[in-house]
Amino acid sequence: MNDLPEVSPARNIPRHTAIIMDGNGRWARQRGLPRVLGHERGGENLLRIVEAAGDLGIEFLTVYAFSVENWQRPDEEVSSLMRLLESYLSRHAETLVKRQVRLRVIGDIDALPEHARRPLLETIQATKSFTGKNLVLALNYGSRAELVRVAQGIARDARNGTLAPESLDWENIAARLDTAGIPDPDLVIRTSGEIRLSNFLLLQAAYAEWYFSPVLWPDFDAACLAEAVRDYSRRNRRFGKAPALPAPAL
Ligand code: IPE
Ligand code: IPE
Ligand code: MG
Repeated sequence: MNDLPEVSPARNIPRHTAIIMDGNGRWARQRGLPRVLGHERGGENLLRIVEAAGDLGIEFLTVYAFSVENWQRPDEEVSSLMRLLESYLSRHAETLVKRQVRLRVIGDIDALPEHARRPLLETIQATKSFTGKNLVLALNYGSRAELVRVAQGIARDARNGTLAPESLDWENIAARLDTAGIPDPDLVIRTSGEIRLSNFLLLQAAYAEWYFSPVLWPDFDAACLAEAVRDYSRRNRRFGKAPALPAPAL
């Protein structure tokens, strides 16, 4: 019998877990429902996952809610997603406050319609003093667009003479990303069986562990999250180093 203790997830929790919440449309289609109902169920599911993540001790939960590329969907779907965001915040902002979850965003939210942007900014403001748990919404987010914004800022500072090109390093670049102040994700989960990155946290996830689940997002429950965390906790992250040698026998 193997007498080594089982790795307890409690000992190796992904401090920052990011999720590509995919599969709402297929969830609805399987039931003969309009896609928007899939998004609605997906939104409700996020609330359970925020709760489950808190219970597991995950400090940062980032979720891909709307990508830069998602503007290319039919106008009707885009506007229902924006309305959903608004109603979601009006219904659940209080829960975030009650659970002491700090809401943050990554992505260019200036492009969001005012009716969605206003409650978003209000909720960010109302939760900004919480420190233990963070929910980061990726909205109008795409890694390449984020990198373009960073490059524009660097070019501006170099032209103004406030940035010497040779002083530029990764820390400086990371501080200009939308995720400044947020640690890199340890674990990135994608639901719905798709095995691609879709322009999500490409730089920040350089050393993240990936977990792909076949479950469609509206069905991805607390047990699915716990399984992903358990899987993560068994992995050996090396960051390019050689594996540790067993201690020599004395
Ligand atoms: C993810 O579900 C939610 C968003 C992208 C907003 P999808 O809408 O991509 O669902 P599928 O991939 O079509 O099933
Ligand atoms: C990624 O899902 C974006 C979000 C989950 C918000 P998509 O469904 O938009 O990605 P692709 O188009 O399948 O790559
Ligand atoms: Mg999809």
